[in-house]
Formats: sequence, C-alpha cells, structure tokens
Amino acid sequence: MPSNGTRASAIVLATVIVSGTLPAHAVTPEEAFKAGCGGCHSSDKNILREIPRGPDEDRRAWILKFMASHPNEMDSVKSQIVEYLVAKSATAKSWWQFW
Ligand code: HEC
Repeated sequence: MPSNGTRASAIVLATVIVSGTLPAHAVTPEEAFKAGCGGCHSSDKNILREIPRGPDEDRRAWILKFMASHPNEMDSVKSQIVEYLVAKSATAKSWWQFW
C-alpha cells in the first residue's frame, strides 16, 4: 500500500501526462503534415533528406520557398506543417551528421 504522498504524486503525474497529450490546436504538427502532404508522401523521409542543414531560420526559409511552388492539400495548416518540418529536420540531421 503506497503512502498518501506517493499516491498524490502519481495523480499529479497522470494529470500532467494527460494534459500534455491534448493538442493545443485542432491538429498537431504531425497531423497537419499528414493532412497537407501525406496524401502524396506516405513518409517524411525523402522530404527531410531534401531540406538543407543549417540554423532554424535558414531551414524555415528553404521550406517556405519550396512550399510556395509545391502542392499542399490543406493550406489552412501550413504554419503547423512548416513548424513540423523545421523541428524534424533539426533532430533528423543531428544524430547522424557526426557519422
Ligand atoms: C499532389 C501530390 C503532392 C502533395 C500534396 C505534396 N507533394 Fe511533395 N512531392 C510530390 C511529388 C510527385 C514529388 C516528386 C517525388 C520524386 O520525384 O520522387 C514531391 C517531392 C517533394 C520533395 C522533394 C523530395 C522528394 O521526395 O523528391 C519535397 C521536399 C516535398 N515534396 C515536400 C512536400 C511537402 C512539405 C508537402 C506538404 C505541404 C508536399 N510535398 C505535398 C507530390 C506531392
């Protein structure tokens, strides 16, 4: 039988986890990508490979320029898609650029 203190922190932790998974917007960045690009791109692998390395603002500029002349099946979530690609291109490169 856990002490009251243990049980209380378990409840707090569960609350944090639940509220953390609730989307801030109607769609998460990943859902935005699937809605806007997923119809033609079943995976983001090739897309992430195409995005050049560099600081966030350089990648964001490249992504915006590319998307200006590329189809998007849900333009209303364009800003979430851009954020998704900026974030994912940062982590996707960071672990293998040293190898
Ligand atoms: C109507 C279909 C369609 C949609 C929607 C679409 N694309 Fe593409 N995309 C393509 C095609 C076709 C290619 C060329 C693939 C190839 O040459 O292998 C491509 C290529 C790309 C490439 C170059 C890398 C590669 O795979 O060749 C990037 C980057 C890219 N798309 C990003 C996006 C993003 C981001 C979105 C969502 C905003 C998106 N695309 C939505 C059809 C689409």
